[in-house]
Amino acid sequence: MKKIIVIKGSPRKGANSDTLCDAAVAAIKDAEIIEFAIRDKKVNPCVGCNACKGDFVGCVQKDDFSALVEDLRTCDGIILSAPIYFGDVPGPVKTFIDRQYCLFNPAKGPLVEQKERKMAVILTNGGMPLEVGTQIAEKTLGCFNVEGITDKKILVVRECNDRDAAAGKPDALKQAEEVGAWF
Ligand SMILES: Cc1cc2nc3c(=O)[nH]c(=O)nc-3n(C[C@H](O)[C@H](O)[C@H](O)COP(=O)(O)O)c2cc1C
Repeated sequence: MKKIIVIKGSPRKGANSDTLCDAAVAAIKDAEIIEFAIRDKKVNPCVGCNACKGDFVGCVQKDDFSALVEDLRTCDGIILSAPIYFGDVPGPVKTFIDRQYCLFNPAKGPLVEQKERKMAVILTNGGMPLEVGTQIAEKTLGCFNVEGITDKKILVVRECNDRDAAAGKPDALKQAEEVGAWF
């Protein structure tokens, strides 16, 4: 069975990016879903110790991110949902991204299982131009290349300040379902 990791990056549980993410997940068929809501997890910052460039695969820190590394190495897909904060993902999401450095080591070759691995990034925002949101999503996706992503999809939804805004956007919900079905 496919294994899909669902990373929720909003501090607001049940708000817009969660709503769109849940719509996507509901449309995924026959998969094990591993949900990782960063707001509920302990994810320490990377301290740049470079221990991960030694003889083992993983991170010397012991927290919820370390416990996820094996699933990140072997999963078939990743969904990341998040709001845009000041032109980027929120700080806790960036902290998660930085910890992926333990999967980057060109000297050792690929550290993740080599197979088709899809990723979707779903971002909501207050109202920035769609092209700007799309650029931020592309940049965010690029940070996951360490996981050997082979296929990518982006969904950016504007005008999502009220926490229930996305729930009232049938077009956006349909697009989110299409993202899920794509997995
Ligand atoms: C700290 C902070 C920074 C934000 N920065 C931006 C921004 O740069 N551009 C924008 O369009 N919206 C910005 N917003 C609005 C959020 O992106 C928007 O409300 C988002 O849909 C919230 O997602 P959520 O409902 O899943 O929490 C910001 C909101 C907060 C709280």
